[in-house]
Amino acid sequence: MSGSEKQLFGLFAHPVGHSLSPVMHNRAFQALGLPYHYHPFDVSPQDLPEAVAGLKALGIKGINVTIPHKERIVPLLDELDPEAKAIGAVNTVVLSKQGRLVGYNTDGAGYVQSLLTETGVNLEQTRVLLLGAGGAAKAIAIYLIKNGCTSVTIANRTEQKAETLANHIRHYANAKNRQETNGPLTSLQVDVLSWTFLEQQGVTDYQLIINTTPVGMWPHVEQTPLALQGLKPGTVVSDIVYNPLCTAFLNNAKQLGATVHQGLGMFIYQGALAFKLFTGYDAPLDVMRQVVLKQLN
Ligand code: ATR
Repeated sequence: MSGSEKQLFGLFAHPVGHSLSPVMHNRAFQALGLPYHYHPFDVSPQDLPEAVAGLKALGIKGINVTIPHKERIVPLLDELDPEAKAIGAVNTVVLSKQGRLVGYNTDGAGYVQSLLTETGVNLEQTRVLLLGAGGAAKAIAIYLIKNGCTSVTIANRTEQKAETLANHIRHYANAKNRQETNGPLTSLQVDVLSWTFLEQQGVTDYQLIINTTPVGMWPHVEQTPLALQGLKPGTVVSDIVYNPLCTAFLNNAKQLGATVHQGLGMFIYQGALAFKLFTGYDAPLDVMRQVVLKQLN
């Protein structure tokens, strides 16, 4: 890739207005001297098939996909990377040299890179409590297991969805282990807890607590997903919400002596991984972080 030809990238979302991906990618292109542009496209669910077909016709080299298209776009693509297939959702699409639309998911990998870099947590020794059971929870859970985590407990407002996610994770882990060692994964513990039970019992048993729900996101900044009753000092508490940078949930955790992990890192790293898939170049992480921070402050 010479990097000297003009190329167009973009984001498909609905609504698209508040996303910080355009400013982050455009600043990164500029930092590397690439004559590329990243444009936000407001694509309604009913227009998604035509918009995806239009990528090839227009020669758009890559897009990110976010709410509400991450799962809907899967059957519209030519190929899926194995992790995107395991997650069942795509946040990055690249037009390959052969003219095929290939779907990737950089959310889980981005989350875990940010978590490991910023907290140094040892996943093999960590009991994880996952709050929420949506697309983000699925991507994160799969990457936690890929990175050595052996104990995940899921609590979700709708308990049936937590059960479905738990089964999905067990299935993924067993398939992974069969491939790697020819046997089922016996050491993985995946549990589901009812929300009411969790509120009564408290969070003493966990060393890493991750909020994957949108609770606490701007403008509802006073809301928290869970009272952190029984939290042990030194527990890592993580939130994927990055606006505000430090949610009420994380502020409570900090006051109780936890190590907090903000959602901004996941946003930056998922973007950096997408940038590498788009351009072939390592992303300028600091430049991306600074421009996003400027928008959030
Ligand atoms: P994403 O792709 O961002 O994960 P999603 O798939 O819609 O989005 O999942 C959102 C998650 O946040 C779900 O687990 C949802 O709980 P339900 O399964 O009960 O819908 C959870 N969630 C959303 N709003 C919530 C709220 N106000 N309180 C508690 N959980 C909430």
